[in-house]
Amino acid sequence: MRIGVLTGGGDCPGLNPAIRAVVVRASAAGHEVVGILDGWKGLATPDAPASRPLDRAAVNGIHARGGTILGSSRTNLLKREGGLEAAEASMRALGLDALIAIGGDDTLSVAAGLAARGAAITAIPKTMDNDVWGTEGCLGFDTAANIVTEAIDRIQTTTASHHRVAVVEVMGRDAGWVAAWGGIAGGVDAILVPEVPLDAVGLDAIIARITARRTVGDGSSIVVISEGVKLPVSSGATTTALDEFGHPRLDKVGVGDALAELLEARTGLEVRCTRLGHLQRGGAPSAADRVLGARYGVAAVAALEAGHFGVMVALRAGAIVEVPLAEVGGRNRGLDPAYHAVVEALT
Ligand code: F6P
Repeated sequence: MRIGVLTGGGDCPGLNPAIRAVVVRASAAGHEVVGILDGWKGLATPDAPASRPLDRAAVNGIHARGGTILGSSRTNLLKREGGLEAAEASMRALGLDALIAIGGDDTLSVAAGLAARGAAITAIPKTMDNDVWGTEGCLGFDTAANIVTEAIDRIQTTTASHHRVAVVEVMGRDAGWVAAWGGIAGGVDAILVPEVPLDAVGLDAIIARITARRTVGDGSSIVVISEGVKLPVSSGATTTALDEFGHPRLDKVGVGDALAELLEARTGLEVRCTRLGHLQRGGAPSAADRVLGARYGVAAVAALEAGHFGVMVALRAGAIVEVPLAEVGGRNRGLDPAYHAVVEALT
């Protein structure tokens, strides 16, 4: 088989280990692998598909590197007139028998569209947000949770020294996995996630908690907020910048800064905000993300060999399984309610 592989959407640690696993596993079985550059964008123009051959030498040592050697984009072929036809023609032009798409829900929605038209596709879930439906593990999440934990540990010592309040804004457009894991691991005082709407009563409760903390220990507090949380009062910030999948650029909204300003005004305390931004998804993958990438890469090639098309390899109760791609699109896996209980008990 001649197998294409691409990475789409926001990059994250774990993509390169998955690419390496695909190439090593496929090459050993006598298949050829072609890397598609910049996600679906690389297949958008049949006259000039962007690709590079990937052999064992090309992936040597990449397992320890963050990002993706193939590049990525948020190109949405479903929104482009003739986009899926263009991808099919590009696959033919490259002589591909099959394709492995590594991505989050947006990238996988395009994969599902192509699979529904008969393309031989398997998919691998990734996103540091950890919210792809149908799997308990997305590449990039473990590394991001570790980075956020370390950042909170560092913020904690300076916040304590100055008896301040810290707001830490983390990624998570629709799901609070990163906020919950970082916040629980970092022992913070409040964790705000998109799954739990914040109303005026909730905001009052956080203010009361911060105020009560003034007389406990060093008197400092830390609040972690997901970028996707909506405040009950307008922050005044707006954004009109949308990506091709119609998502607003949440870094421009700046909910962390808005919350810090609100808390400062309401408590009279000194409140500082740190937005961790792309630090959260840069750098080397953790051991867990490398191993998950390796398991997914091996399983994706095996699925193609078995003729299992239109599926996403997924983690369920520790095992790698296959989930129909048609079930994955358009849904998000929000934070498991079991974590809400822990957050409630400890903040
Ligand atoms: O990959 C998902 C994500 O991490 C979201 O949490 C975030 O809103 C988005 O990517 C930001 O990505 P970029 O700045 O690359 O558009």
